[in-house]
Parts: sequence; structure tokens; C-alpha cells
Amino acid sequence: MIHVEHLFHSYQRNDQFQVHDISFDVREGEIFGFLGPNGAGKSTTQRILTGLLPLQRGQVTVAGHDLRHPRRELFNLIGVSFEQPNVYKKLTGLENLRFFRDLYTGPTADPRDLLQRFGLTEVAHKRASTYSKGMQQRLVLARSLLNRPRLWFLDEPTSGLDPVSAQNIKQLIRDQQAAGTTIFLTTHDMHVADELCDRVAFLNAGRIVALDTPRNLRLRFGQQLLKVEYRQNGTVASEWLAPEEAAARQRLLDLMEAGTLETVHSQEAGLDAVFIAITGRELT
Ligand SMILES: Nc1ncnc2c1ncn2[C@@H]1O[C@H](COP(=O)(O)OP(=O)(O)OP(=O)(O)O)[C@@H](O)[C@H]1O
Ligand SMILES: [Mg+2]
Repeated sequence: MIHVEHLFHSYQRNDQFQVHDISFDVREGEIFGFLGPNGAGKSTTQRILTGLLPLQRGQVTVAGHDLRHPRRELFNLIGVSFEQPNVYKKLTGLENLRFFRDLYTGPTADPRDLLQRFGLTEVAHKRASTYSKGMQQRLVLARSLLNRPRLWFLDEPTSGLDPVSAQNIKQLIRDQQAAGTTIFLTTHDMHVADELCDRVAFLNAGRIVALDTPRNLRLRFGQQLLKVEYRQNGTVASEWLAPEEAAARQRLLDLMEAGTLETVHSQEAGLDAVFIAITGRELT
């Protein structure tokens, strides 16, 4: 559904690349997770794949369209939901969907059906300015499905939402996959990625550093980690220790004997641990 080969991108158009020689395929019907720390190049890649940034170098095919020669039809095949809920606040939920529906040239979904699916029927006639963050996010997602896309791009669909709202959205994403849509999901939330994605790619400093199923990545990188916090020069310092390593066990013993240890938390071998192992950085 998506084919990317040797993709580079430089905002300055010089030899500093924010996306540096990445290649991957997204298969029809899968949920493909695109993960990595802030500034890794995820949004830049998504902007290229959705035609918002020109293709500078490399080969990219999206839903059968070669992005060297992008054509309008592509926009009828893809749905894009952005991280910031960019709805028209002065319009009602229904007016928002009707307005955007008119921008498409192909067949579209019924706005009322979408509002129903996303639990917004009761507020269909209320201005979007009165919506909670979760409702606005659902309106953005509903809007991005107006053109019945075969390929759905989601940037942080659950960020800032309470656990119940996030759970609702995850279920809607699963339902959409079950209906045959291929999904490209960008997120920092390793639990969301773990729960939803068939495969994930980790991007770091513009390069893909791992690409596999969450399960395989957990097996390969996700060793059990301990996060220790200890007093040092009047402040609390923290570090990660892998109990499988002798040096790490010794470090723990030293901290305990020094009497400076404050807390020890174990970190399950989830995608969080994979993220730390691959990027050398802790999620914030
Ligand atoms: N319009 C721009 N002009 C110049 N540089 C940019 C522009 N947009 C992003 N960058 C730079 O490109 C790099 C990749 O940014 P990008 O937004 O793709 O990262 P990201 O992985 O989406 O990060 P985040 O997780 O914070 O959303 C960063 O170093 C960023 O500063
Ligand atoms: Mg981004």
C-alpha cells in the first residue's frame, strides 16, 4: 500500500538530512506504527507520504501513486488526521463534516453516520468550540474518514486523552482496520503501538533503526530494566540498569550499600524498553 525506497529529505536543501535514506513497505490491511523520539523525522515522513511536502529524493508509491508525479486522485484515496485538532470552532460538528465533504470529488461517507460512529450525534448541532479535547479529536478522526479512505494516516490520535476516551479511539481504529483500511499510525505512546500495530518502525535521527512486529522487537531488545533513583549532591539522580548484566547488578549493590538509594522500579519488557534500548533515551 506504501512503498518507500531510499527516501531523503532536507528542509535546508543541503547535505543535512532530517530524513536519511529510509526504506520500508506498508502492507495492505495492516496497522503500521511509526515510532521514535521528538525530532526523529516522523512528521516529515508523513508529510511527504501525504503530499504536503514535495518528494526530494528517493522512490515513494502511495496507494499506487508515484509521488514523483502526484495527482489529485491520491487525495481521494487517503485520509489524514493531524495531531492538533484543527476543526472549525465556529461551526457545529455536522457543519464541519459537510464543509469538508464538499472538498472531495469522489464518493463520500454520510456525515451523520460518521458522527454516530464516533459518538457525536448528541452534539452534532453544537459548535466545535464547546467540544472537549476528546470530542474534538473524534471529530478530526471522523472528518479524515469522509472520503472513505483506503489508507488512513493518524498522527498521535490518543495524545492528551483520558484512558476511557483513548480506549474508545483505539477500538475505532481496530474497527476501521477490520473494515479493510490500511493504517499508518505515528505515536509516542508505546502502549498504543503495542496494542494496535501489526508492525512498527523505529525512527531515530532520520534513520530507521528497527522494523518488526512488536512481539519480535520485545524479544530482541526488550530486556527487563530497573529504574533506580538515588541521592547525589543533594538532588535525585536516576538511571536504568539491566539486571542481566553483572556490572548493573554490582551498581545496584553499590547504591544500596552507600545508603543513597531512594526507589527501584521494574520496567516490564514492553515497547517502552525497546524504545530506550534503541534510542538510548527515556520517554518523557
Ligand atoms: N518546517 C521545517 N523547517 C525546518 N526544519 C524542520 C521543519 N519541520 C521540522 N524540522 C526539523 O526536522 C526534524 C524532524 O522533525 P519532525 O517534525 O519530522 O520530527 P517528529 O519525529 O515528527 O517529532 P515529534 O515527535 O516531536 O513530532 C527536526 O530536527 C525538526 O526540527
Ligand atoms: Mg511529529
